[in-house]
Amino acid sequence: MAQNANSLPTPTLLYKSSVERGEAWRSQFAREMPEVEFRLWPDVGDPLKITHLVAWVPPDNLPETFPNLRVIFSVGAGVDQFELESLPITVKLVRMLDPSITQGMVEYVTWAVLSLHRETPVYLDQQRHRCWSERYWTAAEERRVGILGMGNLGQAVARSLSRLGFPVAGWSRSRHEIPGVDCFAGIGELSRFLARSDILVCLLPLTAETHHILNAHTFAQLPQGAMLVNVGRGGHLNEVDLLKALDSGQVNAAVLDVLENEPPGSDHVFWNHPRVWLTPHVAASTRVESGCKVLLDNMRLDLAGMPMQGEVSRQAGY
Ligand code: NAP
Ligand code: GLV
Repeated sequence: MAQNANSLPTPTLLYKSSVERGEAWRSQFAREMPEVEFRLWPDVGDPLKITHLVAWVPPDNLPETFPNLRVIFSVGAGVDQFELESLPITVKLVRMLDPSITQGMVEYVTWAVLSLHRETPVYLDQQRHRCWSERYWTAAEERRVGILGMGNLGQAVARSLSRLGFPVAGWSRSRHEIPGVDCFAGIGELSRFLARSDILVCLLPLTAETHHILNAHTFAQLPQGAMLVNVGRGGHLNEVDLLKALDSGQVNAAVLDVLENEPPGSDHVFWNHPRVWLTPHVAASTRVESGCKVLLDNMRLDLAGMPMQGEVSRQAGY
């Protein structure tokens, strides 16, 4: 393996995601960190030289193929696509803390909540049926929003919705204190949180603990006719339970940006469901410029032997 002056291996970064962004990042690295060798998938070169990986979907057999890997950077905020338990303990996993992701998520959830709040699905349906009919208007202050996950994204979304006048609550593992937001913590406070959530937004990471957290038991604890926005991961939602809850009216409508299988099969019932809106996992994504800055900053921290921003806790799994 190539050695640098301090006899550490030359840092070699393998990028495996969208080619357009990869080429931009390679040029940026050449300008700002020429000491890092930047490889664009599938041009891996000698796999033994790879010390850092940037990926959305990781290559197969990571530990065996890249035995000298030290750091994996997710190009997204989520890291559930990497099997943390199967990675050697020496490999660090880092999620992307790109301010553009936060901005995109705030925009998307604000759009979804306002659309549900102002009954856009109903009015679109009425238009299709040439029906001009006014419905009773609910003020934002009467529509309680609950956010599952009070992390980087949940907190930003909570602040934005709170500014619009919605009574906002958040639920997380540990308790947070956010001005203007009612904060609930832990499984023991989940029922109380759900009982006051007219619109439920899921912004949790997908872990063994949060898998299928959006299930019949959860829906039953929401106020009747509650609405759902899932922007976490498809694995958070039990789709069969949602369909039943929509049929019974327990859940009135759902905006789903993520699904268990993306894209869903052409016969998936959600495609034509009158009270389900689908978007193709576009709520928020890493932007070329801001994402590269985050990556460069983290590379500098890592090469200086310092902790990086967004390191995933092996214990928590996110
Ligand atoms: P984050 O900063 O890690 O925050 C995660 C939050 O979830 C924290 O508040 C955490 O509690 C809470 N949490 C985790 N496990 C929990 C549990 N078992 N019970 C209760 N609360 C739990 O993550 P983030 O950056 O906000 O991102 C959240 C997720 O959004 C990502 O993992 C990804 O799946 C999704 N995402 C989707 C898109 C999209 O385009 N659809 C884009 C970006 C991200 P603590 O505060 O106590 O740690
Ligand atoms: C997108 O889903 C992300 O995790 O950034």
